[in-house]
Amino acid sequence: MTLEEYYGNKFPLLKQGETYLKTLMETYPNFCNKDGLQAILYIKTRIKTPESMIEKLKRHGMKEDSQTALQHIHDALGVRVICSFVEDVYQIAKWLQERNEIQIMEKKDYIAYPKPNGYRSLHLIIRFATDDLKGITAEIQLRTIALDFWAALEHQIKYKHNVPHEEIIRSELKRCADEIASVDLSMQTIRDILQNDIWEQT
Ligand code: GTP
Ligand code: MG
Repeated sequence: MTLEEYYGNKFPLLKQGETYLKTLMETYPNFCNKDGLQAILYIKTRIKTPESMIEKLKRHGMKEDSQTALQHIHDALGVRVICSFVEDVYQIAKWLQERNEIQIMEKKDYIAYPKPNGYRSLHLIIRFATDDLKGITAEIQLRTIALDFWAALEHQIKYKHNVPHEEIIRSELKRCADEIASVDLSMQTIRDILQNDIWEQT
């Protein structure tokens, strides 16, 4: 089934919302920070495939139609914002909170509270406040590039029926996630020191 077939007359709205959020992110004022390091490295967007949406609806014991989906599942539209530093993640989230065009319905801070497997990311569930996109919601995931690299590898496990040496793989992934978080923090600290030093000298 195609996206158009499943989402029907709501599909153009999802497309419009997708373009809107991508364009909005591109207007982030510190896209490139004072020190020349980019806050946002790249942005990815997707509309959830009918297969994946139907699977999620089934998992939640809901009807499988797109009307139910758009009403109860808030990530039909997904935006992933990949940042350099953890601080960028929080600054962008704060900036998004101040946009009038969108309303933040829910915030899940898996950076402050990582998942047991080590997953770290900041998730915002938003709804559009503008009339033309009324009723459309989206999930914005913000994370560092290092953690995004980890999440892509970790995601593979979900599609494998038989994960070889599963226990070891999972614990190694957890170790990697924790090490990445520690490296992210050190990178942030080094950057802060360099930035202060640069400002002191000029
Ligand atoms: P679903 O996981 O989509 O059913 O929704 P949820 O209500 O459990 O929300 P949650 O915030 O846990 O996850 C939303 C999305 O974040 C997922 O669809 C993934 O894209 C991503 N995500 C969440 N947890 C993980 C994780 O452990 N590993 C990876 N790789 N991605 C994750
Ligand atoms: Mg989940």
